[in-house]
Amino acid sequence: MDKHSLISISDLNKEEILALLKRAQEFEKNPNQRILAGKVVASLFFEPSTRTRLSFETAVNRLGGRVIGFSDPKSSSQAKGESLKDTIMMVSNYADLIVMRHYLDGAARYANEIASVPIINAGDGSNQHPTQTMLDLYTIYQTQGTLENLTITMVGDLKYGRTVHSLLEAMHHFKPRFKFVACDELRMPEQYKQYCTEWGIEYEETREFSPEIINQTDILYMTRVQRERFSDLMEYERVKNIYTLTASMLTGCKPNMRVLHPLPRVTEIAQDVDDTPQAYYFEQALNGLYARQALICRALDL
Ligand code: CP
Repeated sequence: MDKHSLISISDLNKEEILALLKRAQEFEKNPNQRILAGKVVASLFFEPSTRTRLSFETAVNRLGGRVIGFSDPKSSSQAKGESLKDTIMMVSNYADLIVMRHYLDGAARYANEIASVPIINAGDGSNQHPTQTMLDLYTIYQTQGTLENLTITMVGDLKYGRTVHSLLEAMHHFKPRFKFVACDELRMPEQYKQYCTEWGIEYEETREFSPEIINQTDILYMTRVQRERFSDLMEYERVKNIYTLTASMLTGCKPNMRVLHPLPRVTEIAQDVDDTPQAYYFEQALNGLYARQALICRALDL
């Protein structure tokens, strides 16, 4: 890729990932710099967001750049029938970088073919969420002191959860062991299990969210059941509350174990977990600011 776009986490090799994590660490120490003075970043959110959009926009503001864009596509000319192609062509004329979230798998890759400026994928359907993965990796390193040889348990909606798909791919550099906890309807898709097999990554699948699983885990990655991806809402109703982590389930966990969640949460982490030493999802969301500052600078070659 000649532009420094980020469409999929596999656009980054191990060295690039580690360099970005180091850059994020520098931004954590000093998030207010004027590196983006004179730059305009377009923030195009065709799907709802709190953390991704606001942390990207904060990242640009703290680096001295300017943000244009929309958080609701109904306020854009998409509502009048404008195509994604035309929107991207127009915005390429105004901005130096486009950060885009879209509800369709593959929309970011398509936009990148059209845009004359780099595209950062801020989540495309159930496909990829590579900037979330960078903040997840940053958080895993921050809490574990390493990315290597960790047991990562992914719980919940492993079918539609783009964050787990991206994280799984990124972790192949670091010899992980995965445990996939999901009901039959929301199992990890075959293509990602095949990916594990190709890379020699150990994984096990189970429907049981048992104390044994939790107690073997270094990173417990909880996910929300993605209501917006279901074509059959009756099926969503059947599975929406299938797993809930409560504080009492953490009594036998490893001392280093941390609970992560890309957020927003609904019912999958009870409020009483927030007061445990294992809860780390709010710090994780803060790390999005530093990881995204590093990614914006990469995209703009700064
Ligand atoms: N984790 C995440 O993507 O959160 P938002 O949907 O709030 O951006």
